[in-house]
Amino acid sequence: MIGFGAVGSGVVNLFNNMTREIFERVGLSVELVKIAVRNKGKKRSQIFDKNKITEDAFSIVTDPEIDIVVEVMGGEEPAMALILKAISQGKHVVTANKHLLAMRGEEVYSAVESGEVELGFEAAVAGAIPIVRAIRSAFAGDRIDMIQGIVNGTGNYILSRMTSEGKPFNEILKDAQSLGYAESDPAFDIEGIDSAHKVAIMAALAFGTSVNFGSVFIEGITSITPDDISMAREFGLKIKLLATAKRCEGGIEARVHPAMIPQSHFLASVNGAYNAIEIICDNAAKNVLIGPGAGSGPTASAIAGDVIDIACKIARGGAGKTPPMLIPLELRNETKVKAISDMVFEYYLRFTVSDRPGILAKLAGALGEKGISIASMIQRGRQENEPVSVVLTTHSAAEADLDMALEQLKDTDICLAPVTKIRIQKDA
Ligand code: NDP
Ligand code: HSE
Repeated sequence: MIGFGAVGSGVVNLFNNMTREIFERVGLSVELVKIAVRNKGKKRSQIFDKNKITEDAFSIVTDPEIDIVVEVMGGEEPAMALILKAISQGKHVVTANKHLLAMRGEEVYSAVESGEVELGFEAAVAGAIPIVRAIRSAFAGDRIDMIQGIVNGTGNYILSRMTSEGKPFNEILKDAQSLGYAESDPAFDIEGIDSAHKVAIMAALAFGTSVNFGSVFIEGITSITPDDISMAREFGLKIKLLATAKRCEGGIEARVHPAMIPQSHFLASVNGAYNAIEIICDNAAKNVLIGPGAGSGPTASAIAGDVIDIACKIARGGAGKTPPMLIPLELRNETKVKAISDMVFEYYLRFTVSDRPGILAKLAGALGEKGISIASMIQRGRQENEPVSVVLTTHSAAEADLDMALEQLKDTDICLAPVTKIRIQKDA
């Protein structure tokens, strides 16, 4: 195994506690032979022979005694070089590295296919939730039309606690980090990038296509304030960081952004580091998977599932015969990802304006000029010469039209701060 951090520690605990069961399930013993780390001197509380810890990760991927390499170090390099080296040595690979698969998955999948090895990446999408297995085998006989849900534990943990406790963003992020949920750079979580990595992987697998990561629309949760959360509550809505991969005319939608969804929607009650994914299929209709989306134990469980799956194939035959992306790469093409500007939503808009006569008329006028119809309006507080928040919700509008209206307002003295725009998905 390469990496002995939050996830790696969980894997060590799991293999220590499940030795007998794993032997029974595989029919062979599966031994954690060596672990590579960055700093050998770091104190670790898990039970593992110190002599089997190395700072030379390449000694693992070239060790002829090792059959399966588990990569849980993260990042693009040297993870990519290590994985490719492992594959070139005929080793099967299990990874939790969604960053790498979203950015350079095609190279990895191609090496896996030509090297005739297995690739397990269940842990890369939504922690313990078996979404990769669901797409790759359970729904392999169906056509998946949409996958939508909450796929970042840290972001959901932050939004949930902001909603229930009204605590500030940064304080909650620190807790998410100390609980082992966050990426080593937490900007990946809060800026929506981690969710987008997962959307790209799921879309590629479910729709049999390669997905250019640069075309996935990404918006994070950093501009959401407790005020937005309480306003959403007044409208009977809740804010969640939604990830969507969907077939549409001429291509697919692949997007990540905060969305206001009805409080009665099942995703609205998925809290903490839990993730939930709705899969809509042609025949199987709507199915939902819910579970812990981050953290040591849940992610280790997904890793161990992949290791055991591969170990069983090694023990019984058939290892190296599974195309990692369900269909062979030669049958896949890149699909066009629809631009967000071509989509239509209802919107929540929070303007910071000075409280003087005529301002509301100007806001309504700018939106009206682009054919955007206002559904409701709330003004919070009234302080002489102080900025006030005006919240408008709109009926369905084209994103491109709304952006043009907001751009026009930016060039006036009406808005005293950037406008907060949150998409409303009542039929999420
Ligand atoms: P951590 O930062 O906790 O751990 C990273 C580990 O990698 C550390 O043990 C570190 O060593 C080791 N490492 C870093 N660089 C090297 C190197 N050059 N050579 C050898 N070892 C190295 O990360 P996580 O465990 O949280 O995440 C690991 C992977 O799992 C990432 O890809 C992440 O995206 C993914 N993931 C994480 C989840 C989570 O809940 N945390 C859930 C699902 C996926 P040292 O200990 O000496 O610093
Ligand atoms: N940082 C990720 C999250 C880990 O919070 O969801 C699980 O992929």
